[in-house]
Amino acid sequence: MPELNPTTVQAALDAALEQVAAAQTAAELRAAKAQVVGEASEISKLNAEIKNLPGDKKAEAGKLVGGARGQLNAAFEAKLADLGKIERDQKLAEEALDMTAVAGTLPRGARHPLSLLMDQIGDVFVGMGWEIADGPELENEWFNFDALNFHPDHPARAMQDTFFVAPVENHLLLRTHTSPVQVRSMLERELPLYVLCPGRVFRTDELDATHTPVFHQVEGLAVDKGLTMADLRGTLEHFARVMFGPEAKIRLRPSFFPFTEPSAELDVWHPGAKGGPRWVEWGGCGMVNPNVLLAAGIDPEQYSGFAFGMGIERTLMFRNGVTDMHDMVEADVRFSKQFGSVI
Ligand code: PHE
Repeated sequence: MPELNPTTVQAALDAALEQVAAAQTAAELRAAKAQVVGEASEISKLNAEIKNLPGDKKAEAGKLVGGARGQLNAAFEAKLADLGKIERDQKLAEEALDMTAVAGTLPRGARHPLSLLMDQIGDVFVGMGWEIADGPELENEWFNFDALNFHPDHPARAMQDTFFVAPVENHLLLRTHTSPVQVRSMLERELPLYVLCPGRVFRTDELDATHTPVFHQVEGLAVDKGLTMADLRGTLEHFARVMFGPEAKIRLRPSFFPFTEPSAELDVWHPGAKGGPRWVEWGGCGMVNPNVLLAAGIDPEQYSGFAFGMGIERTLMFRNGVTDMHDMVEADVRFSKQFGSVI
């Protein structure tokens, strides 16, 4: 049982003050307070002694212990305020922003070369007064095949080429070429008609160095009075020169497409080809088959048309010396950046 006198009270107070002073954080301070003023603390024990004193000593002893408690509480409050300020200052220092710091350059993206090429092709034709048209990628079989004069048994319809969309009775498919836009444009627009349609097409090919199941084509269609194969040639020659340089020329080789008659394969003389100038297969073309004009409600006695179509990936490959299709579909920005377009 501790003896209650000024010396023991002072000793208890000093020890308690030391503990308060030693606290480094608000949490430590609260723990110290529980120890130095709580039930089990020295001060509380001394306080409990008061009731054992003779009556005339109680008031004085009460004042002594009460004074010590008062000092302890004041020390505690002062220390709490100090620690609070230190902690706040620390937090502010940690969270400080340097408003004058120079921001690092964010890496920029680049437009995909296929989009750039499609835009560039669009510009060539818009420059000649043509319009840009588009059509749905999920297409009706009638627009993709029937209206384009494909026989019901034409092998291109077969499952191994075309992504049909279930249920098959709905006759929906992912368009296998941009030619359905020919029919849509003829139905929707006024004559004469000069439209270009760049867009995505789909075929059931495996992805390899030269194939991809999703690719892009650009389709051109002109319908007017008196158009001939010479107009088709002139248009394609101009297009080839813009794409491949002033020495570029084209050649047409007889071919077959159900929707054109006569039909031709289009080759381009590519003066800047890797490994020297050479002929490269570029696309298909021809005079619009009268059956296609009829399917779109156009009188083939009055109007004639020409059409052409080519692959954008293929064009980019031989124009820019891209040798692997994977580079085009993998969307690695380092590939796009080589084409010099920064957004
Ligand atoms: N649609 C044809 C294809 O995908 C290309 C083509 C377009 C041919 C227009 C002639 C006229 O192969």
